[in-house]
Amino acid sequence: MTQRTLVLIKPDAVRRGLVGEILGRFEAKGLTIVALEHRAIDAEMADAHYAEHVEQPWYPPLREFAVSGPLVSLVLEGDEAIAVVRLLNGKTDGRAADPGTIRGDLSLSNRENLVHASDSEESSAREIALWFPSL
Ligand code: CDP
Ligand code: MG
Repeated sequence: MTQRTLVLIKPDAVRRGLVGEILGRFEAKGLTIVALEHRAIDAEMADAHYAEHVEQPWYPPLREFAVSGPLVSLVLEGDEAIAVVRLLNGKTDGRAADPGTIRGDLSLSNRENLVHASDSEESSAREIALWFPSL
């Protein structure tokens, strides 16, 4: 089933010069980029994106990280794209993520973990509408 998923290449990845490396992995897998933007976000946008997490004790430092510099937002399309991109990203905690995944190969942090991807069809629809309202 062809799906679309919302991906963020987070500020740590932009600072570290890993945008090309990360985009290359998605393209090499066969996923199609259907929208892409380099932008900075404010706290309001961070809160909207992370609505499910705003009450977490670890949310204030996450918000600070999310607004700490530019990021790249994109929509990827392909067969089973939502699950496939979560697999390519790897587990949330870069220290525990499997080698071969983006986080497993390139992140040593539970917060600065380089990438975000929608986790369900519902979140994909919500996040694509939030980040790319014209799609
Ligand atoms: O991004 P993912 O769906 O894998 O993880 P999440 O549980 O939905 O958490 C969202 C984001 O919050 C993570 O990707 C981390 O950047 C951050 N986080 C954090 O800062 N501290 C935690 N204890 C857990 C997550
Ligand atoms: Mg999540």
